[in-house]
Amino acid sequence: MRYSFHFFFLFIVVLFELLNGTNAEGLFKFRLATSVDDVRLCQALRRQVFVREQRVPADTELDGKDDGALHVMCFASNDGSLVATGRCLLVAGAPSASEEGEKGSSSSATASTAQQQQQRRRRRFHAVLGRIAVHANYRGQGIGPQVIRKLEQEAARRNAIRVTLTPHSYLHDFYARLGYRRVPGTGPIPVNEHCTLIQMEKWLNLEEK
Ligand SMILES: CC(C)(COP(=O)(O)OP(=O)(O)OC[C@H]1O[C@@H](n2cnc3c(N)ncnc32)[C@H](O)[C@@H]1OP(=O)(O)O)[C@@H](O)C(=O)NCCC(=O)NCCS
Repeated sequence: MRYSFHFFFLFIVVLFELLNGTNAEGLFKFRLATSVDDVRLCQALRRQVFVREQRVPADTELDGKDDGALHVMCFASNDGSLVATGRCLLVAGAPSASEEGEKGSSSSATASTAQQQQQRRRRRFHAVLGRIAVHANYRGQGIGPQVIRKLEQEAARRNAIRVTLTPHSYLHDFYARLGYRRVPGTGPIPVNEHCTLIQMEKWLNLEEK
């Protein structure tokens, strides 16, 4: 009787893992790039996605900013291949007080404690996310949002209070679901007849770190 209970319990656990298969953290491993070779690997995936698939000119894709950036890497656990990447550039300088005021009431100065205000003053970075690429075979499984979330966490850990990105206009709803909104006062940026970019931003919570 005791063994059949154990088997039943094991069966439930396996079933749960299978039903949650595509979201299970275990299927994919995330980490930051730690070497030149890691960055080269990210660039190779980006070349495949942006240059070959999306026809972005190779010299535009490689903009010379990779060495000073954080790169999140996502590997498939089964074969160790790189399936997604994304980049975060930290830009020094706190947003102006008026920009901070745009964040809304939850972080308004009147509602803040002295400790929160002090903490905010220490957070002087703005992070620019970009080069977010998921291998074509792995799209639609929620990996892109996880890469973005990891980038936001890394940015918050390094005292960023705001993240921005400049995606294709057709990705507006995708980023809106992740908490981004159009940067107030900005309009679409036409690049060519196939490509229009928009500027989006997200304020990170003080508790995010
Ligand atoms: C955009 C991208 C990062 C999303 O990653 P993902 O892991 O596939 O994300 P999800 O699993 O949440 O699902 C895909 C979602 O992406 C959005 N999306 C992807 N391509 C899209 C397109 N051409 N048009 C509109 N929405 C698109 C949709 O919201 C879609 O959700 P839906 O299928 O429910 O409509 C991935 O599609 C990708 O690498 N695309 C090519 C490179 C690129 O454009 N990167 C963005 C640079 S800012």
